[in-house]
Amino acid sequence: MENAPAEICEDTLDIQTLLNLGPMAPVSNTHAIYAGLRRDHPVYETTLAADLNSPDGNRSFLITRYADVKGVLRDDKHYSSDINQRTMGVVMGPTLVGMDGREHLKHRTLITPSMTPRALKGDSFRDVVRKTAEDTIDSFIEEGAADLHHDFCFKYPLAVFVSLLGLPSDHLDRVHRWGIDLCLVAFDPAKGISAAEKLLDYLTPIVQAKRNEPGSDMISMLIAAEIDGEKLSDFEVVSFLRLLVLAGAETTNHLLGTACYVLLHNHALMERVRSDRTLITALFHEVMRWESPIGTLMREANSDTQIAGVDIPKGSGVLCQVGAANRDERQFKDPDVFDIDREDNEHIGFGYGRHYCAGSHLAKLEAEVALNTLLDRLQDIKPVAGKSSRIIGFSFRGPDNLPVTFNAA
Ligand code: HEM
Repeated sequence: MENAPAEICEDTLDIQTLLNLGPMAPVSNTHAIYAGLRRDHPVYETTLAADLNSPDGNRSFLITRYADVKGVLRDDKHYSSDINQRTMGVVMGPTLVGMDGREHLKHRTLITPSMTPRALKGDSFRDVVRKTAEDTIDSFIEEGAADLHHDFCFKYPLAVFVSLLGLPSDHLDRVHRWGIDLCLVAFDPAKGISAAEKLLDYLTPIVQAKRNEPGSDMISMLIAAEIDGEKLSDFEVVSFLRLLVLAGAETTNHLLGTACYVLLHNHALMERVRSDRTLITALFHEVMRWESPIGTLMREANSDTQIAGVDIPKGSGVLCQVGAANRDERQFKDPDVFDIDREDNEHIGFGYGRHYCAGSHLAKLEAEVALNTLLDRLQDIKPVAGKSSRIIGFSFRGPDNLPVTFNAA
């Protein structure tokens, strides 16, 4: 985000300007634009996905209504994920998010068992995650002040990831640095590609060593996984791990950040959740709906088709704006209101259909442990007066900072 323009006039921002600002646009007021699109242009033609490595001459459409987005994500007959391979694949190598059909099914079947927390570390997995949250809080608690976004929400999911993979904990800093650079690929492709290469150089010998001496960690499970006599190659394992660095660095952190933002700006809710921790699940799902950490999912039309009566020619890119869909008034009552008591919260923040997030239970567990640990360890958490935070972003979305003061419990 460092390279983004500093001054953007949000009052006059329109969708085309927003799209031109790129996937990491540091813009807060996106929901007003989406509301207008859902009302007047539910299938909006844009050049964005066409720029993203699509063959010349192809068209692109941004969709914002819940039913349309869900319809495209569910319809893998007419829509392909290959466009993700041509964009993210440049940095990541071959990963699930860019695969279709049988290839996707095979890889998903190989990978899914390693993503179950129970499969990873048995019943002690939650303890490992809790210890990671405790250690991260220990690094700032004596100060009585912190930027929760930087000091906790960003560091903690990567620290969980390092422990999941069975990497030495003193490697956290470098994985953290590469994770940040990987996220910047849309802004600074050279930096993103360099981080991907460094991760490849770092992870390949680790994967090779675990092939010879397996442990009980995720890398060992991925190496051992087999379907119809086929296993993942070292390069496929490393590609998947790089995808997980991004999943760890750019999703759960936003989710946690927005959860903290909501609690910091609603003292009554903070106290309600503090005294009834069972509410954390509803808080989690309402954050996923209200400010979906991943805003945009990309697909490409396999054949001539239609969305809401609009012709979508074969080869067109389709940008599914999940964040806009999750605020659709046709699906959710008072969608702009953050309502922890909302019933039937069928958000699609984890996507929908065959690519539904493979790490959703891990994200849920991480968030639950993180919020419980923060509330256990920090009392009287307050935003720092005069330093405002905003929730920003287009493709990824979360707070820009969260400066707070607190008392150690
Ligand atoms: C709050 C946190 C998270 C959010 C909001 C999120 C969201 C998503 C979404 C929307 C997709 C669908 C992509 C598509 O349809 O193109 C997805 C896929 C995926 N996510 Fe997550 N994710 C989160 C956390 C995680 C974590 C912690 C992991 C693993 C450590 C993970 C691993 C994956 C994988 C492997 C896929 C690809 C699944 C497939 O293509 O079949 N995610 N995620």
